[in-house]
Amino acid sequence: MSRKLVLAACAAIVATAALAPVAIADENNPVIVHRQGIYKIVAGHMGGLKSILLLKNGATENLSWHAEGIVDAFKHMGNAYPVGSDIGETKAKAVIWSDRAKFDEAGKKAFGAALALVDTAKAGNIEQSTNAFKALGGTCKACHDDFRKD
Ligand code: HEC
Repeated sequence: MSRKLVLAACAAIVATAALAPVAIADENNPVIVHRQGIYKIVAGHMGGLKSILLLKNGATENLSWHAEGIVDAFKHMGNAYPVGSDIGETKAKAVIWSDRAKFDEAGKKAFGAALALVDTAKAGNIEQSTNAFKALGGTCKACHDDFRKD
């Protein structure tokens, strides 16, 4: 591509970016975007697990991949709820920051449940994996009930 064409292409990209309604522009807190993105990934893995275990759609060899994906995503969260990240497009309840110990405990339970699922999945035990999957889902719900706005 000639230099002129490259410049023209760049200009086109800039123009498009300026005109396109960018969804993320509404969200000015990257910490919130980060944690919501991680939860979406986790939920995607849960969908895969549900399909394999409860809907019995086969692909049992993918169980541990999904389970490890959840553990990995949780590990990557880091400090996803710093003070001040209640400002923006978030469903996080204020109680997260006023009762941090309880919130952290709910997080640890979910992480532990995900680790347990990795173990049963790696062992190839479908029945135990189904139970571990349900237990993990219960920890998601428990935290949402207490700490996420509807
Ligand atoms: C320790 C508490 C906690 C645990 C455990 C937890 N969540 Fe959440 N989740 C939240 C909070 C708080 C939000 C809202 C975050 C925000 O809007 O800033 C959320 C948001 C979400 C969202 C919406 C993300 C978006 O697009 O805005 C999904 C989906 C989700 N969680 C799925 C899950 C699943 C699946 C699990 C279990 C495997 C799980 N969560 C475990 C607290 C938790």
